Order: sequence, then C-alpha cells, then structure tokens
Amino acid sequence: MNKNDYDSIIERAKEIQKEWRTVPAPKRGEVIRVFGNHLRQDIEKIGTAIMKDAKKIHAEAIGEVQEAIDMCDFAVGLSRQLYGLTIQSERPEHKLQEVYNPLGVVGVITAFNFPCAVWAWNHCIAMVCGNSVVWKGSPKAKNVTDSCKEAWDSAISECFFPDTKFKDLLQVVDGDKTEAEWMADDSRINLLSATGSTAMGKALAPRVSARMGKALYELGGNNGMIVSKHANIDLAVRGIVFGAVGTAGQRCTTLRRLIVHESVYDELMSKLKPAYASLPVGDNFKEETLVGPLINQESADKMQSALQQAKDKGYTVHGGEVVEGCTVRPAIVEATEQCDLVKTETFAPILYVLKYTDLNEAISIHNAVPQGLSSCIFTDSVQEAETFTSAVGSDCGIVNINIGPSGAEIGGAFGGEKDTGGGRESGSDAWKQYMRRSTVTINYGKSLPLAQGIKFGD
Ligand code: UN1
Repeated sequence: MNKNDYDSIIERAKEIQKEWRTVPAPKRGEVIRVFGNHLRQDIEKIGTAIMKDAKKIHAEAIGEVQEAIDMCDFAVGLSRQLYGLTIQSERPEHKLQEVYNPLGVVGVITAFNFPCAVWAWNHCIAMVCGNSVVWKGSPKAKNVTDSCKEAWDSAISECFFPDTKFKDLLQVVDGDKTEAEWMADDSRINLLSATGSTAMGKALAPRVSARMGKALYELGGNNGMIVSKHANIDLAVRGIVFGAVGTAGQRCTTLRRLIVHESVYDELMSKLKPAYASLPVGDNFKEETLVGPLINQESADKMQSALQQAKDKGYTVHGGEVVEGCTVRPAIVEATEQCDLVKTETFAPILYVLKYTDLNEAISIHNAVPQGLSSCIFTDSVQEAETFTSAVGSDCGIVNINIGPSGAEIGGAFGGEKDTGGGRESGSDAWKQYMRRSTVTINYGKSLPLAQGIKFGD
C-alpha cells in the first residue's frame, strides 16, 4: 500500500476516535450487539471465505465465526462493566479512584490461521472501550478480511444511517511486512496488537518499544500434553487427535509435544496410531474431510524438512506423507530426547512423543521450550492436576486439565508467556490493555494535607 494512503487512514482513525470516545460505552456496546447479529446472518458467507483462504474444514470455519459472535456477546456485557476501583485515601476528606478512558487508535495485525476470530477478540473489545481500529489482516486471507469488514460496515450503517460519521471506525490496511513495520513505528497507534510468529513479534517489538508504545503480542506456541499413568487413555486420545491435527496443525495452540508416562506409553501409542491412520485427509470442502491442506507449499516443505531431520536423528516417524500438493497426512514422531527440532514450532501437524518416569521430570521437559502458550495434563489424580496448575507446574498462559491445549473459550484471557509474547486477549480483564488508566485523587475538604504526612511551609 502507498504510504500516503496509509497516513490518511491513520489520520482518519484519529479523527473519528475523538467522536467515538464521547459515545457512552453501553451505546458503543449496542453497536457490537447489532454487529453480532450481522455475523449470525453472515456465518456461512464468512465461513466460506475462511474455508477458501485458510483452508479450514466447514466445522472449524463456522466455529471460528462462532468465536467472533461469542466475542460480541461478551463485549456487549463488558460495555456496562468497564469499572475501576475506589481506594481508601490516607488523607482526610480525600478519595482515590481508578478511571478508565479510551486509548485512541488500536492497530490490529492478524495471521492467516484465525483471520476472523482473532481480529474479533481485538476489535470488539477495542470498540466498546472507545477506540478506533486499523486492521492489517493476513495477505493470505483477504476474502475473510473483506467479509468481516462488510459485516461490520453493515452494522454501523444500521445503527447510524443516514449519518455516516462513524463509517471509518474500522479501516483496513492492505499489506504485509512493510505495512506492519509502519504500524509498529507509528506513534499515532496507541496500542498495537499483533498475532503471528515469534519471529514476526521479535521484529516488531523493538520498533514499538523505541517509541515507548503499548503492544500486545500473541505469538508462537509449542504446546505440550502430559499423559500420566492416572490418565483416562481414551479421553487423552480424543484430546490428542483434535489438538494435534485440528486446523491441520496450524493453530498457535496446536498440540506439538506429547509427554507420556512410560507405563502407559505402549497402550497410548497402540490407540493413537490407528486413530491417525484412519483420519480423512483431503479437500477441505468435502464433508468427510477432517484434515484439509496446509496453507501453502512453503509450509508443506517445512514439514517435510522437519520430518527428514527427525529421521536423520533416528526417530521413528509415523505418517507425514504428502498426499498431493500441500495436503499431507499428520505425523507422529517418537523422539528420544527434546532436541532443538522438538523445541522449534513447525507450523504443521507434527506431534513429537517423549517418555517420562516421574511428574517433576515431565513438568521440566514440558517447560523446557522457548514458547509458553498452552499446556495440558491428562490425569485423574487431583495431586497431579493441582501440581500442574501450581507455582511448580506449567509455565504457560493456558493450563488445561483433561482437555487438549487448543480450542479455548473466549471468556478467559488468551495468551502466553516467554516467546509467546506475554499479551492477553479476549475475555477476563484483557480489556484493560485497550484503555488508559488514570488514578484520580479527589480532595473534598477545605485543607490541603500532603501524602506521606509531608509538612511544606505550614
Ligand atoms: C490462534 O491459533 O492464533 O484456542 C488462536 C484456540 C482458538 C484460538 C486459536 N480459540 O485454539
């Protein structure tokens, strides 16, 4: 995109936000409520765009739009709940309050794999918080960006017609790396929320920091599952299959590492291998397909190269063959150690399997990767489950018990630690990042006592 066009988008976003911030938050929430209805109407249309661009199967594409609808419902309620604390003052006739005000312009960068839902996490919250949004969707998912923008614009026109003043509350930046860098460098963007690879986040973060900007990162994951000797193995197998092969292994929350107690290893593998072998792989538009193609040839090549490295190390590889083009069978790799290959996120359906003897060892294997997004344990032992969620347990932002690592609900805060970037999006109090907090001290007395009891000329 041309830089002048970009600049006018940002200037327009700044202008419009000045008006939007004066609209009461519950009224802003009303717009999100209407938007949710448009998403409901357009669910198949947006779902089809997701199937085309991200190559998801129908159920997952619809699930993604549902996630955006859920976000609307959440944000509508939130629009009446943007509250701060009232704090006791140490001074007589004084009161401390927290007041939340809109930030300004929120820049949103999203990836191809969740081209609708991740935008909605940011957009719905940013909007009820009184910000304008500038969205750079993935260049691989233009149909999705366009159909989401269309649904939003229809909601705006339904709410304000014939007034057009809010028509550019959401604007789209069409572009790739250069445009992402403009956004990172741009001090007119008050919060940059970026989802994508850790490499992308690490390239943008110094630029945002150089201008002391606010940022929220949701980057790579290398999510693990511990299967204990106390696990319900059948339940675990179901969790593994959806976690590792859903979205053809291209979720940031995809299960990539399986850490299995040695006593149940053979039983688990004897159930997992046939489950993998019977997976319907192929055209994502066919109803019976569960695993569609990878996003492009580059991804398929990266997968083959990782599998070759695994074979070179002497690991046993099950599956992983190219069916045709970028359609591949998901792979299970029996690794004997957590080497650099296992520690690397290859954005494809490769599941590395490791053995452990005791829980502490399993937790330390689990945590010994650079990424910290999602994690889980399958166990019916309350001691093991609670240990996994405790200070000595998983170091991730998402910690699940008897559930795979992917498919989080929007009600909780979503995000992770370490190379995942530390941001939190969607539910809980993630909204606070989209607002500016002022600590307000009010003196309702007739004297001016100073804090810390300081006497200054009295
Ligand atoms: C992502 O892959 O970037 O928890 C997001 C999940 C989905 C979101 C994934 N709700 O798997």
